[in-house]
Amino acid sequence: MYYTVPVVGKVHWIGVNDRRKRLFENMWPLDRGVSYNSYLIVDDKTALVDTIEDRAAGNYIERIEKLLNGRTLDYLIINHMEPDHSGEIKAIFDHFKGVKLVGNSKTFKMVEAYWGIKENLHVVDDGDMLDLGHHKLKFVMTPWVHWPETMMTYDTTDQILFSGDAFGSFGTLDGGIFDDEINFDFFEEEMRRYYSNIVGKYSNMVQKAFAKLKGVPVKVIAATHGPVWRSNPSKVLDLYDKWSRYEAEEGVVIVFASMYGNTEEIADYIGRKLCENGVKNIRIHDVSRTHISHLINEIWKYKGLILGSCAYNSQMFPLMEQLTRELTHMGIKNKQLGLFGSYSWNGGGVKNLMKFIEETELELVTEPCEVYGKPNEEKLAQYDVLAKVMAEKIKQ
Ligand code: FEO
Repeated sequence: MYYTVPVVGKVHWIGVNDRRKRLFENMWPLDRGVSYNSYLIVDDKTALVDTIEDRAAGNYIERIEKLLNGRTLDYLIINHMEPDHSGEIKAIFDHFKGVKLVGNSKTFKMVEAYWGIKENLHVVDDGDMLDLGHHKLKFVMTPWVHWPETMMTYDTTDQILFSGDAFGSFGTLDGGIFDDEINFDFFEEEMRRYYSNIVGKYSNMVQKAFAKLKGVPVKVIAATHGPVWRSNPSKVLDLYDKWSRYEAEEGVVIVFASMYGNTEEIADYIGRKLCENGVKNIRIHDVSRTHISHLINEIWKYKGLILGSCAYNSQMFPLMEQLTRELTHMGIKNKQLGLFGSYSWNGGGVKNLMKFIEETELELVTEPCEVYGKPNEEKLAQYDVLAKVMAEKIKQ
């Protein structure tokens, strides 16, 4: 990357695209890559807001130097310490002698633990200000969006919210940086996948951040991943608000685990019956084939969830167990739920799926049914009730 892009007046985007990393956090597929956004404010005092992942750095420091045009860097503001944003802190600290690191007390515990840095620290707390000259920055503590030390920086002058991970998205910035330079259709799926995979577990803390920012005028949202919102920031605010309230769309996701196709046949049958009951958004996934990242994304999107597992060594299928564990870990809420399965000896799929219900406190729309042996017309007919009730519930 060789270019930088002005955001507003003295504020510049100075991010990078990462198309090499295959898995974010070594877990979530980056089919469309990811951007790490960093921002430089060249005012009477100069300030860098967040850095980027070190392996993606390239000529990052040269780009900063070009914008500084011979001046020094006065501050490095650290909104978040996850290494996709803190990766270049040590390099910046070493290169720009005397730069002051700006963060909160939790930030600096991590800074010391990562690099042993204990000097040139400027500790801020909720509501503290930093005067750069024209720009007056205010710090807002937003713990757990996404780590405990996370904060946001609000530029009171141009009403820019440097929001860290919040309002971010997977997907690289392929030329277009701003919301009015891109087709958002490309990003909506990736944004929800990013939200549900990375931030969703902390949805209640996202709501707390919203409460804190209520009434604060925001003209630009400058997150650390994905597009910068300058034309229609309310769009991304509304989406994050909706997702963090677990508000979902009319539709049903069916995820099945099937070794030899019997449980899959049931999934297809239920799908057809849902359609006959007027449901249009129906997504059927094989848990062995679709990555859990995409499953979680779709589950977040739709109101209805139907899980089916064959029995496997008297348990549920291991990959279905992984999915239910991850959904439990993420505190999944507000789903209309159905269960099904099949077995050949003594069962175990549905029995163990029931434990998922206990852990998440989700409620079943109707009693689960399990097929012994191969499904046939008569055995499949027991799922008519599930499809009918599910269709009614998601339309309420
Ligand atoms: Fe983009 Fe929590 O780091």
